[in-house]
Amino acid sequence: MKTGVVLHVITKNKLPYEWLEEILNLAAEWIVVVDREGIIRYINGAYCDFLDTCTEEATGKHVQDVIENTRMHLVVRTGQAEVASIHAIKGSEMIANRYPLYVDGELVGAVGTVMFRNSQDWLDYSRKVQPVLEELKYYKKRFEKELRSKYNFGDLIGNHPKFQEAKRLAERVAGSQSAVLLSGESGTGKELFAHAIHQTSPRGQFPLVRVNCASIPENLLESELFGYEEGAFTGAKKGGKKGKFELAHRGTVFLDEIGDMPLQMQSKLLRVLQEKEIERVGGQAPIPVDVRIIAATHRHLEQMVQEGKFRQDLYYRLNVMKIEIPSLRERKEDIKPIAKALLCKLERKFSRQGIKLSEEVVERLEAHAWPGNVRELENILERAVNVLDGNIIRLTHLPLYLQDDLQLVRFHGSRTEDLPFKDGPVQPLKEVLMHAEKAAIQHALRQTNGNKQLAAKLLGIGKTSFYDKCKTYNIN
Ligand SMILES: Nc1ncnc2c1ncn2[C@@H]1O[C@H](COP(=O)(O)OP(=O)(O)O)[C@@H](O)[C@H]1O
Ligand SMILES: [Mg+2]
Repeated sequence: MKTGVVLHVITKNKLPYEWLEEILNLAAEWIVVVDREGIIRYINGAYCDFLDTCTEEATGKHVQDVIENTRMHLVVRTGQAEVASIHAIKGSEMIANRYPLYVDGELVGAVGTVMFRNSQDWLDYSRKVQPVLEELKYYKKRFEKELRSKYNFGDLIGNHPKFQEAKRLAERVAGSQSAVLLSGESGTGKELFAHAIHQTSPRGQFPLVRVNCASIPENLLESELFGYEEGAFTGAKKGGKKGKFELAHRGTVFLDEIGDMPLQMQSKLLRVLQEKEIERVGGQAPIPVDVRIIAATHRHLEQMVQEGKFRQDLYYRLNVMKIEIPSLRERKEDIKPIAKALLCKLERKFSRQGIKLSEEVVERLEAHAWPGNVRELENILERAVNVLDGNIIRLTHLPLYLQDDLQLVRFHGSRTEDLPFKDGPVQPLKEVLMHAEKAAIQHALRQTNGNKQLAAKLLGIGKTSFYDKCKTYNIN
Protein backbone atom coordinates (compact mmCIF):
# COMPACT_ATOMS: atom_id res chain seq x y z
CA MET A 1 0.00 0.00 0.00
CA LYS A 2 1.19 3.46 -0.83
CA THR A 3 1.55 5.83 2.05
CA GLY A 4 0.63 9.13 0.57
CA VAL A 5 -2.03 11.75 0.80
CA VAL A 6 -4.98 11.23 -1.46
CA LEU A 7 -6.43 14.62 -2.27
CA HIS A 8 -9.13 13.82 -4.79
CA VAL A 9 -11.45 12.43 -2.13
CA ILE A 10 -11.73 15.86 -0.63
CA THR A 11 -12.24 17.72 -3.94
CA LYS A 12 -14.84 15.22 -5.09
CA ASN A 13 -16.79 15.93 -1.94
CA LYS A 14 -16.88 19.48 -3.17
CA LEU A 15 -15.18 21.19 -0.25
CA PRO A 16 -14.50 24.65 -1.71
CA TYR A 17 -10.80 25.38 -2.22
CA GLU A 18 -11.02 28.50 -0.02
CA TRP A 19 -12.31 26.42 2.87
CA LEU A 20 -9.50 23.98 2.49
CA GLU A 21 -6.93 26.72 2.50
CA GLU A 22 -8.45 28.24 5.60
CA ILE A 23 -8.44 24.89 7.39
CA LEU A 24 -4.79 24.33 6.55
CA ASN A 25 -3.95 27.81 7.73
CA LEU A 26 -5.72 27.21 11.02
CA ALA A 27 -3.87 24.01 11.67
CA ALA A 28 -1.22 24.43 14.33
CA GLU A 29 0.91 22.01 12.37
CA TRP A 30 3.25 23.40 9.76
CA ILE A 31 2.42 22.25 6.27
CA VAL A 32 4.15 22.59 2.90
CA VAL A 33 3.16 21.11 -0.45
CA VAL A 34 5.54 20.86 -3.43
CA ASP A 35 4.97 19.67 -6.98
CA ARG A 36 7.09 17.19 -8.94
CA GLU A 37 9.72 19.84 -9.65
CA GLY A 38 10.04 20.72 -5.98
CA ILE A 39 8.28 24.05 -6.43
CA ILE A 40 6.23 25.17 -3.43
CA ARG A 41 2.55 25.13 -4.39
CA TYR A 42 1.23 25.70 -0.92
CA ILE A 43 2.64 26.61 2.48
CA ASN A 44 0.50 27.49 5.49
CA GLY A 45 0.70 30.67 7.53
CA ALA A 46 2.19 29.10 10.66
CA TYR A 47 5.14 27.72 8.70
CA CYS A 48 5.65 31.06 6.92
CA ASP A 49 5.70 32.91 10.24
CA PHE A 50 8.50 30.69 11.46
CA LEU A 51 10.48 31.12 8.22
CA ASP A 52 10.01 34.91 8.24
CA THR A 53 8.22 34.89 4.94
CA CYS A 54 4.63 34.99 3.71
CA THR A 55 2.52 32.70 1.58
CA GLU A 56 2.64 34.95 -1.51
CA GLU A 57 6.42 35.27 -1.37
CA ALA A 58 7.18 31.60 -0.79
CA THR A 59 4.71 30.08 -3.22
CA GLY A 60 6.25 29.39 -6.63
CA LYS A 61 9.82 29.21 -5.31
CA HIS A 62 11.88 26.04 -5.19
CA VAL A 63 11.55 24.50 -1.73
CA GLN A 64 15.34 24.51 -1.20
CA ASP A 65 15.35 28.29 -1.57
CA VAL A 66 12.80 28.66 1.22
CA ILE A 67 13.43 25.85 3.70
CA GLU A 68 16.97 24.96 4.69
CA ASN A 69 18.00 21.27 4.82
CA THR A 70 14.72 20.24 3.22
CA ARG A 71 14.26 16.83 1.61
CA MET A 72 10.89 17.48 0.02
CA HIS A 73 12.30 17.56 -3.51
CA LEU A 74 13.88 14.14 -2.82
CA VAL A 75 10.65 12.60 -1.59
CA VAL A 76 9.03 13.62 -4.87
CA ARG A 77 11.73 11.72 -6.68
CA THR A 78 11.84 8.59 -4.53
CA GLY A 79 8.14 8.36 -3.84
CA GLN A 80 9.12 7.14 -0.34
CA ALA A 81 7.52 8.58 2.77
CA GLU A 82 9.86 9.76 5.51
CA VAL A 83 8.18 9.65 8.88
CA ALA A 84 9.47 11.29 12.06
CA SER A 85 12.79 12.33 10.63
CA ILE A 86 14.90 14.92 12.41
CA HIS A 87 15.14 18.17 10.49
CA ALA A 88 17.27 21.14 11.59
CA ILE A 89 15.92 24.58 10.66
CA LYS A 90 17.25 27.82 12.10
CA GLY A 91 19.11 25.95 14.82
CA SER A 92 16.13 23.93 15.96
CA GLU A 93 15.80 20.18 15.62
CA MET A 94 12.33 19.50 14.38
CA ILE A 95 10.52 16.30 13.75
CA ALA A 96 9.21 16.23 10.21
CA ASN A 97 7.02 13.90 8.19
CA ARG A 98 7.19 13.85 4.40
CA TYR A 99 4.69 12.00 2.25
CA PRO A 100 4.53 11.57 -1.51
CA LEU A 101 1.28 13.02 -2.86
CA TYR A 102 -0.75 10.87 -5.20
CA VAL A 103 -3.76 12.20 -7.09
CA ASP A 104 -5.76 9.71 -9.10
CA GLY A 105 -2.93 7.22 -8.70
CA GLU A 106 -0.32 9.56 -10.08
CA LEU A 107 2.59 11.00 -8.11
CA VAL A 108 2.10 14.74 -8.35
CA GLY A 109 4.21 16.08 -5.51
CA ALA A 110 4.83 15.79 -1.79
CA VAL A 111 3.35 17.02 1.49
CA GLY A 112 5.54 17.92 4.41
CA THR A 113 4.48 18.52 7.99
CA VAL A 114 6.38 19.42 11.12
CA MET A 115 5.06 17.72 14.23
CA PHE A 116 7.29 19.06 16.96
CA ARG A 117 8.88 22.38 16.36
CA ASN A 118 11.76 21.93 18.71
CA SER A 119 13.13 19.48 21.15
CA GLN A 120 11.26 21.22 23.97
CA ASP A 121 7.99 20.47 22.20
CA TRP A 122 9.11 16.92 21.83
CA LEU A 123 10.22 16.72 25.44
CA ASP A 124 6.91 18.08 26.67
CA TYR A 125 5.13 15.54 24.59
CA SER A 126 7.30 12.63 25.61
CA ARG A 127 7.02 13.66 29.25
CA LYS A 128 3.31 13.13 28.92
CA VAL A 129 3.62 9.88 27.02
CA GLN A 130 6.55 8.39 28.89
CA PRO A 131 4.77 7.66 32.18
CA VAL A 132 1.99 5.96 30.29
CA LEU A 133 4.50 3.80 28.43
CA GLU A 134 6.34 3.00 31.67
CA GLU A 135 3.12 1.96 33.29
CA LEU A 136 2.28 -0.22 30.36
CA LYS A 137 5.70 -1.82 30.51
CA TYR A 138 5.29 -2.49 34.23
CA TYR A 139 1.96 -4.23 33.81
CA LYS A 140 3.21 -6.15 30.83
CA LYS A 141 6.16 -7.42 32.82
CA ARG A 142 4.06 -8.29 35.82
CA PHE A 143 1.57 -10.03 33.64
CA GLU A 144 4.26 -12.05 31.96
CA LYS A 145 5.89 -12.87 35.26
CA GLU A 146 2.68 -14.03 36.80
CA LEU A 147 1.06 -15.76 33.92
CA ARG A 148 3.85 -17.00 31.71
CA SER A 149 6.24 -19.80 32.42
CA LYS A 150 9.82 -18.92 32.99
CA TYR A 151 11.55 -22.26 32.77
CA ASN A 152 11.77 -25.24 30.52
CA PHE A 153 13.45 -28.62 30.70
CA GLY A 154 16.85 -27.24 29.76
CA ASP A 155 16.91 -25.45 33.12
CA LEU A 156 16.54 -28.68 35.05
CA ILE A 157 20.11 -29.67 35.85
CA GLY A 158 21.11 -33.12 37.05
CA ASN A 159 22.50 -36.42 35.77
CA HIS A 160 21.58 -38.78 38.59
CA PRO A 161 19.49 -41.66 37.17
CA LYS A 162 16.59 -40.91 39.53
CA PHE A 163 16.54 -37.28 38.48
CA GLN A 164 16.88 -38.16 34.80
CA GLU A 165 13.98 -40.57 35.20
CA ALA A 166 11.81 -37.83 36.75
CA LYS A 167 12.74 -35.47 33.93
CA ARG A 168 11.99 -38.06 31.24
CA LEU A 169 8.61 -38.79 32.80
CA ALA A 170 7.79 -35.09 32.99
CA GLU A 171 8.73 -34.58 29.35
CA ARG A 172 6.51 -37.49 28.39
CA VAL A 173 3.43 -36.25 30.25
CA ALA A 174 3.90 -32.67 29.12
CA GLY A 175 2.11 -33.36 25.87
CA SER A 176 -0.89 -35.00 27.52
CA GLN A 177 -3.79 -33.44 29.38
CA SER A 178 -3.47 -35.61 32.49
CA ALA A 179 -3.15 -34.24 35.97
CA VAL A 180 0.37 -34.40 37.36
CA LEU A 181 1.40 -34.79 40.98
CA LEU A 182 4.91 -33.63 41.80
CA SER A 183 6.28 -34.93 45.04
CA GLY A 184 9.57 -34.05 46.63
CA GLU A 185 11.11 -32.28 49.58
CA SER A 186 11.06 -28.53 49.77
CA GLY A 187 13.53 -26.90 47.37
CA THR A 188 13.94 -29.92 45.07
CA GLY A 189 12.57 -28.05 42.05
CA LYS A 190 8.87 -28.92 42.01
CA GLU A 191 7.91 -25.48 40.79
CA LEU A 192 10.61 -25.62 38.14
CA PHE A 193 9.17 -28.92 36.92
CA ALA A 194 5.65 -27.46 36.83
CA HIS A 195 6.88 -24.56 34.68
CA ALA A 196 8.74 -26.86 32.32
CA ILE A 197 5.76 -29.18 31.90
CA HIS A 198 3.40 -26.29 31.23
CA GLN A 199 5.81 -24.58 28.87
CA THR A 200 6.30 -27.71 26.79
CA SER A 201 2.59 -28.59 26.71
CA PRO A 202 0.14 -27.40 24.04
CA ARG A 203 -1.14 -25.04 26.74
CA GLY A 204 2.22 -23.30 26.92
CA GLN A 205 1.01 -20.10 25.28
CA PHE A 206 -1.79 -19.77 27.83
CA PRO A 207 -1.35 -18.79 31.46
CA LEU A 208 0.23 -20.86 34.18
CA VAL A 209 -1.37 -19.71 37.41
CA ARG A 210 0.13 -20.73 40.73
CA VAL A 211 -1.87 -21.09 43.90
CA ASN A 212 0.01 -21.61 47.13
CA CYS A 213 -2.50 -23.62 49.12
CA ALA A 214 -0.39 -23.32 52.28
CA SER A 215 -0.17 -19.54 52.37
CA ILE A 216 -3.75 -18.45 51.60
CA PRO A 217 -5.97 -18.25 54.70
CA GLU A 218 -8.70 -20.86 54.65
CA ASN A 219 -11.54 -18.33 54.45
CA LEU A 220 -10.01 -16.63 51.40
CA LEU A 221 -9.01 -19.75 49.48
CA GLU A 222 -12.38 -20.27 47.83
CA SER A 223 -12.63 -16.75 46.44
CA GLU A 224 -8.96 -16.89 45.40
CA LEU A 225 -9.56 -20.07 43.44
CA PHE A 226 -13.01 -19.41 42.03
CA GLY A 227 -13.47 -15.65 42.23
CA TYR A 228 -16.51 -13.78 43.50
CA GLU A 229 -19.40 -11.70 42.27
CA GLU A 230 -19.93 -8.08 43.11
CA GLY A 231 -21.61 -7.81 46.51
CA ALA A 232 -20.78 -11.39 47.48
CA PHE A 233 -19.52 -10.13 50.84
CA THR A 234 -18.66 -6.85 52.50
CA GLY A 235 -15.53 -5.47 50.91
CA ALA A 236 -16.08 -7.39 47.67
CA LYS A 237 -14.71 -5.42 44.75
CA LYS A 238 -17.02 -3.70 42.33
CA GLY A 239 -17.57 -5.85 39.28
CA GLY A 240 -16.43 -8.94 41.21
CA LYS A 241 -13.10 -10.66 40.74
CA LYS A 242 -11.86 -13.53 38.64
CA GLY A 243 -10.44 -16.51 40.46
CA LYS A 244 -7.25 -18.36 39.59
CA PHE A 245 -9.15 -21.01 37.67
CA GLU A 246 -10.77 -18.44 35.42
CA LEU A 247 -7.45 -16.66 34.93
CA ALA A 248 -5.83 -19.93 33.90
CA HIS A 249 -8.50 -20.72 31.32
CA ARG A 250 -6.95 -22.90 28.55
CA GLY A 251 -3.73 -23.00 30.55
CA THR A 252 -2.56 -24.70 33.73
CA VAL A 253 -3.35 -24.27 37.41
CA PHE A 254 -0.37 -25.12 39.60
CA LEU A 255 -1.66 -26.13 43.03
CA ASP A 256 1.44 -25.81 45.17
CA GLU A 257 1.50 -27.43 48.62
CA ILE A 258 -1.74 -29.26 47.88
CA GLY A 259 -1.22 -31.32 51.04
CA ASP A 260 -2.01 -28.19 53.04
CA MET A 261 -5.43 -27.66 51.49
CA PRO A 262 -8.23 -27.84 54.06
CA LEU A 263 -10.59 -30.82 53.69
CA GLN A 264 -13.62 -28.67 52.94
CA MET A 265 -11.80 -26.99 50.06
CA GLN A 266 -10.67 -30.38 48.80
CA SER A 267 -14.35 -31.29 48.22
CA LYS A 268 -14.95 -28.11 46.26
CA LEU A 269 -11.82 -28.66 44.21
CA LEU A 270 -12.86 -32.21 43.44
CA ARG A 271 -16.21 -30.99 42.17
CA VAL A 272 -14.52 -28.51 39.84
CA LEU A 273 -12.24 -31.22 38.47
CA GLN A 274 -15.22 -33.47 37.80
CA GLU A 275 -17.63 -30.90 36.40
CA LYS A 276 -15.01 -28.75 34.63
CA GLU A 277 -16.86 -25.65 35.72
CA ILE A 278 -16.55 -23.28 38.61
CA GLU A 279 -18.96 -21.26 40.68
CA ARG A 280 -17.93 -17.84 41.83
CA VAL A 281 -18.64 -17.01 45.45
CA GLY A 282 -22.09 -15.39 45.45
CA GLY A 283 -22.50 -16.30 41.79
CA GLN A 284 -25.59 -17.76 40.14
CA ALA A 285 -24.51 -19.62 37.02
CA PRO A 286 -21.53 -21.96 36.79
CA ILE A 287 -18.72 -20.86 34.47
CA PRO A 288 -17.05 -23.50 32.31
CA VAL A 289 -13.25 -23.60 32.61
CA ASP A 290 -10.66 -25.59 30.71
CA VAL A 291 -7.56 -26.08 32.82
CA ARG A 292 -4.94 -28.69 33.42
CA ILE A 293 -3.92 -29.36 36.99
CA ILE A 294 -0.37 -29.76 38.20
CA ALA A 295 -0.19 -30.27 41.95
CA ALA A 296 2.84 -30.40 44.19
CA THR A 297 3.56 -31.27 47.78
CA HIS A 298 6.37 -32.21 50.11
CA ARG A 299 3.95 -34.25 52.21
CA HIS A 300 3.19 -37.95 51.99
CA LEU A 301 -0.31 -37.81 50.58
CA GLU A 302 -0.86 -41.60 50.83
CA GLN A 303 -0.25 -41.44 54.52
CA MET A 304 -2.52 -38.42 54.85
CA VAL A 305 -5.26 -40.32 53.00
CA GLN A 306 -4.89 -43.14 55.50
CA GLU A 307 -5.11 -40.73 58.39
CA GLY A 308 -8.23 -39.16 56.89
CA LYS A 309 -6.48 -35.82 56.30
CA PHE A 310 -6.67 -35.94 52.53
CA ARG A 311 -9.61 -37.05 50.44
CA GLN A 312 -8.94 -40.34 48.74
CA ASP A 313 -11.03 -39.52 45.65
CA LEU A 314 -9.16 -36.24 45.17
CA TYR A 315 -5.88 -38.06 45.63
CA TYR A 316 -6.76 -40.46 42.81
CA ARG A 317 -7.79 -37.58 40.57
CA LEU A 318 -4.50 -35.76 41.08
CA ASN A 319 -2.29 -38.79 41.12
CA VAL A 320 -2.81 -39.73 37.49
CA MET A 321 0.88 -39.16 36.84
CA LYS A 322 3.16 -39.03 39.83
CA ILE A 323 6.65 -37.66 39.47
CA GLU A 324 8.99 -38.06 42.40
CA ILE A 325 11.86 -35.62 42.48
CA PRO A 326 14.86 -36.90 44.45
CA SER A 327 16.39 -34.83 47.22
CA LEU A 328 19.79 -33.28 46.70
CA ARG A 329 21.44 -35.55 49.27
CA GLU A 330 20.32 -38.55 47.22
CA ARG A 331 22.22 -37.24 44.23
CA LYS A 332 25.50 -35.86 45.49
CA GLU A 333 27.14 -36.08 42.08
CA ASP A 334 24.67 -33.47 40.84
CA ILE A 335 25.75 -30.90 43.41
CA LYS A 336 28.76 -29.74 41.40
CA PRO A 337 26.97 -29.24 38.05
CA ILE A 338 24.00 -27.57 39.75
CA ALA A 339 26.31 -25.29 41.73
CA LYS A 340 28.05 -24.34 38.48
CA ALA A 341 24.75 -23.52 36.77
CA LEU A 342 23.62 -21.49 39.77
CA LEU A 343 26.94 -19.62 39.82
CA CYS A 344 26.43 -18.67 36.18
CA LYS A 345 23.05 -17.22 37.11
CA LEU A 346 24.60 -15.34 40.03
CA GLU A 347 27.40 -14.00 37.84
CA ARG A 348 24.82 -12.46 35.58
CA LYS A 349 22.90 -11.08 38.54
CA PHE A 350 25.94 -9.46 40.12
CA SER A 351 27.75 -8.64 36.83
CA ARG A 352 30.73 -10.80 37.73
CA GLN A 353 32.77 -13.33 35.85
CA GLY A 354 35.00 -16.34 36.41
CA ILE A 355 33.81 -17.32 39.90
CA LYS A 356 34.95 -20.83 40.84
CA LEU A 357 34.53 -23.24 43.72
CA SER A 358 37.65 -24.45 45.49
CA GLU A 359 38.10 -28.20 45.80
CA GLU A 360 37.56 -28.13 49.59
CA VAL A 361 34.27 -26.34 49.07
CA VAL A 362 33.05 -28.90 46.57
CA GLU A 363 34.04 -31.62 49.02
CA ARG A 364 32.24 -29.79 51.81
CA LEU A 365 29.09 -29.27 49.77
CA GLU A 366 29.05 -32.92 48.86
CA ALA A 367 29.28 -33.90 52.52
CA HIS A 368 26.36 -31.72 53.62
CA ALA A 369 22.88 -33.19 54.12
CA TRP A 370 20.95 -30.37 52.33
CA PRO A 371 17.65 -30.27 54.21
CA GLY A 372 16.70 -27.27 52.03
CA ASN A 373 17.88 -28.94 48.82
CA VAL A 374 18.66 -26.82 45.74
CA ARG A 375 17.11 -23.71 47.30
CA GLU A 376 19.54 -23.99 50.22
CA LEU A 377 22.45 -24.43 47.81
CA GLU A 378 21.29 -21.37 45.89
CA ASN A 379 21.18 -19.29 49.08
CA ILE A 380 24.61 -20.44 50.22
CA LEU A 381 26.18 -19.60 46.87
CA GLU A 382 24.54 -16.20 46.74
CA ARG A 383 25.83 -15.45 50.22
CA ALA A 384 29.31 -16.62 49.21
CA VAL A 385 29.37 -14.43 46.10
CA ASN A 386 28.39 -11.50 48.29
CA VAL A 387 31.27 -11.93 50.73
CA LEU A 388 33.77 -12.99 48.07
CA ASP A 389 37.04 -11.03 47.88
CA GLY A 390 38.64 -12.75 44.90
CA ASN A 391 37.18 -15.16 42.37
CA ILE A 392 37.45 -18.42 44.28
CA ILE A 393 34.83 -19.51 46.78
CA ARG A 394 36.66 -21.02 49.76
CA LEU A 395 35.53 -22.57 53.02
CA THR A 396 35.62 -19.21 54.77
CA HIS A 397 32.94 -17.93 52.41
CA LEU A 398 30.50 -20.58 53.55
CA PRO A 399 28.13 -19.98 56.44
CA LEU A 400 29.40 -21.14 59.81
CA TYR A 401 26.98 -24.02 60.09
CA LEU A 402 28.58 -25.55 57.02
CA GLN A 403 32.06 -24.94 58.37
CA ASP A 404 31.01 -26.60 61.65
CA ASP A 405 29.53 -29.52 59.82
CA LEU A 406 32.97 -30.20 58.48
CA GLN A 407 34.45 -30.89 61.86
CA LEU A 408 31.52 -33.04 62.87
CA VAL A 409 31.80 -35.15 59.79
CA ARG A 410 35.52 -35.52 60.24
CA PHE A 411 35.24 -36.41 63.88
CA HIS A 412 32.51 -38.92 63.31
CA GLY A 413 34.13 -40.12 60.15
CA SER A 414 37.59 -40.96 59.02
CA ARG A 415 39.47 -39.23 61.79
CA THR A 416 37.74 -40.79 64.80
CA GLU A 417 40.88 -42.81 65.34
CA ASP A 418 42.65 -39.59 66.31
CA LEU A 419 40.30 -39.35 69.25
CA PRO A 420 40.74 -41.33 72.45
CA PHE A 421 37.15 -42.53 72.88
CA LYS A 422 37.07 -45.30 70.37
CA ASP A 423 38.29 -48.26 72.41
CA GLY A 424 40.28 -48.66 75.57
CA PRO A 425 39.73 -47.21 79.02
CA VAL A 426 37.56 -44.18 79.63
CA GLN A 427 39.68 -41.07 80.20
CA PRO A 428 39.03 -37.91 82.17
CA LEU A 429 36.75 -35.56 80.20
CA LYS A 430 39.27 -32.75 80.44
CA GLU A 431 41.87 -34.81 78.63
CA VAL A 432 39.42 -35.93 75.96
CA LEU A 433 38.45 -32.32 75.32
CA MET A 434 42.07 -31.23 75.07
CA HIS A 435 42.74 -34.03 72.67
CA ALA A 436 39.77 -32.99 70.55
CA GLU A 437 40.92 -29.39 70.64
CA LYS A 438 44.37 -30.32 69.46
CA ALA A 439 42.98 -32.48 66.65
CA ALA A 440 40.67 -29.68 65.53
CA ILE A 441 43.54 -27.19 65.37
CA GLN A 442 45.74 -29.59 63.45
CA HIS A 443 42.90 -30.28 61.10
CA ALA A 444 42.26 -26.58 60.53
CA LEU A 445 45.92 -25.99 59.81
CA ARG A 446 45.97 -28.82 57.28
CA GLN A 447 42.93 -27.31 55.55
CA THR A 448 44.52 -23.89 55.32
CA ASN A 449 47.99 -25.09 54.41
CA GLY A 450 49.36 -23.79 57.69
CA ASN A 451 47.74 -20.35 57.48
CA LYS A 452 47.17 -19.68 61.19
CA GLN A 453 45.02 -16.62 60.77
CA LEU A 454 42.61 -18.42 58.47
CA ALA A 455 42.65 -21.51 60.69
CA ALA A 456 41.65 -19.38 63.67
CA LYS A 457 38.85 -17.86 61.62
CA LEU A 458 37.60 -21.27 60.55
CA LEU A 459 37.61 -22.43 64.14
CA GLY A 460 35.76 -19.32 65.16
CA ILE A 461 38.30 -18.24 67.78
CA GLY A 462 40.51 -15.19 68.17
CA LYS A 463 44.08 -15.06 66.92
CA THR A 464 45.61 -14.69 70.40
CA SER A 465 43.66 -17.58 71.79
CA PHE A 466 44.67 -19.64 68.76
CA TYR A 467 48.40 -18.93 69.31
CA ASP A 468 48.04 -19.74 73.03
CA LYS A 469 46.50 -23.08 72.24
CA CYS A 470 49.18 -23.85 69.66
CA LYS A 471 51.77 -23.24 72.38
CA THR A 472 49.93 -25.44 74.87
CA TYR A 473 49.70 -28.32 72.40
CA ASN A 474 53.13 -27.81 70.95
CA ILE A 475 51.88 -27.10 67.45
CA ASN A 476 54.00 -25.03 65.08
N1 LIG B 1 17.47 -29.20 38.94
C1 LIG B 1 17.64 -27.91 39.15
N2 LIG B 1 18.53 -27.23 38.42
C2 LIG B 1 18.72 -25.92 38.62
N3 LIG B 1 18.09 -25.19 39.54
C3 LIG B 1 17.19 -25.80 40.31
C4 LIG B 1 16.92 -27.19 40.16
N4 LIG B 1 15.99 -27.54 41.06
C5 LIG B 1 15.68 -26.41 41.74
N5 LIG B 1 16.39 -25.36 41.30
C6 LIG B 1 16.33 -24.00 41.85
O1 LIG B 1 16.10 -24.13 43.25
C7 LIG B 1 15.12 -23.21 43.70
C8 LIG B 1 13.98 -23.96 44.35
O2 LIG B 1 13.22 -24.64 43.38
P1 LIG B 1 11.64 -24.78 43.48
O3 LIG B 1 11.15 -25.29 42.17
O4 LIG B 1 11.04 -23.52 43.97
O5 LIG B 1 11.52 -25.91 44.60
P2 LIG B 1 10.23 -26.49 45.33
O6 LIG B 1 9.03 -25.96 44.62
O7 LIG B 1 10.37 -27.97 45.18
O8 LIG B 1 10.32 -26.05 46.75
C9 LIG B 1 14.67 -22.43 42.49
O9 LIG B 1 15.28 -21.16 42.53
C10 LIG B 1 15.13 -23.23 41.31
O10 LIG B 1 15.50 -22.37 40.28
MG1 LIG C 1 7.81 -24.68 46.01
